[in-house]
Amino acid sequence: AEAAPFAERLLAWWRVHGRHDLPWQHPRTPYRVWVSEIMLQQTQVATVIPYFERFMARFPDLLSLANTTIDDVLGAWQGLGYYARARNLQATAERCMTDHDGRLPDSAEALAALPGIGASTANAIISQAHDRPAVVVDGNVKRLLSRHAAIEGWPGRSAVMRELWAQAETRLPTAHGADYTQAVMDLGATVCSRRNPRCNECPVRHDCQARRQKRVGELPTPRPK
Ligand code: ADE
Repeated sequence: AEAAPFAERLLAWWRVHGRHDLPWQHPRTPYRVWVSEIMLQQTQVATVIPYFERFMARFPDLLSLANTTIDDVLGAWQGLGYYARARNLQATAERCMTDHDGRLPDSAEALAALPGIGASTANAIISQAHDRPAVVVDGNVKRLLSRHAAIEGWPGRSAVMRELWAQAETRLPTAHGADYTQAVMDLGATVCSRRNPRCNECPVRHDCQARRQKRVGELPTPRPK
């Protein structure tokens, strides 16, 4: 299978069935996308939405976040958990002020050098904030790709992760970077779900290797005991 049909089918599906009214999509600025991606690293969309809205009301831009106290940031984060994320958020805002002219950097490499931002999160920010295609391999995408390409092995292993990353790279479209990132995440979160995948509704079921092999329920391979 070539790259284009996968991305095209996903985008066509997303235009009809995807999420278009998430608060960080309107407007889709680097600051808003960055905060949303940090919140979404360990927290579900439905939980994140009200926190995101309150956070934006309280800290509307990088400067306000850089200039407040850590207690203020932790207060806004109260209940979301994984509080290192809140500390990293403020540390990154400060670094943007001192090292990046008061803005979030616009390259994935520079973003990934900031606290709390790994390679996949950096690409999620770049693709959405600048509408540039970039490889995103979060939990939902790992499941989707493990199944579609029938990739064996626990994704916590670096060799498996490299294979997933390579698969994601091959499938990347040349345009619609922001929508494509949202589309792979949405398909993985909704149709290609862990427990009850709805393969009949999947836009890429025709060449899904796990489905062909009747191994959708086995993939991705769980963490070894
Ligand atoms: N998880 C991480 N980023 C996301 C996004 N933009 N939409 C939905 N789920 C996500």
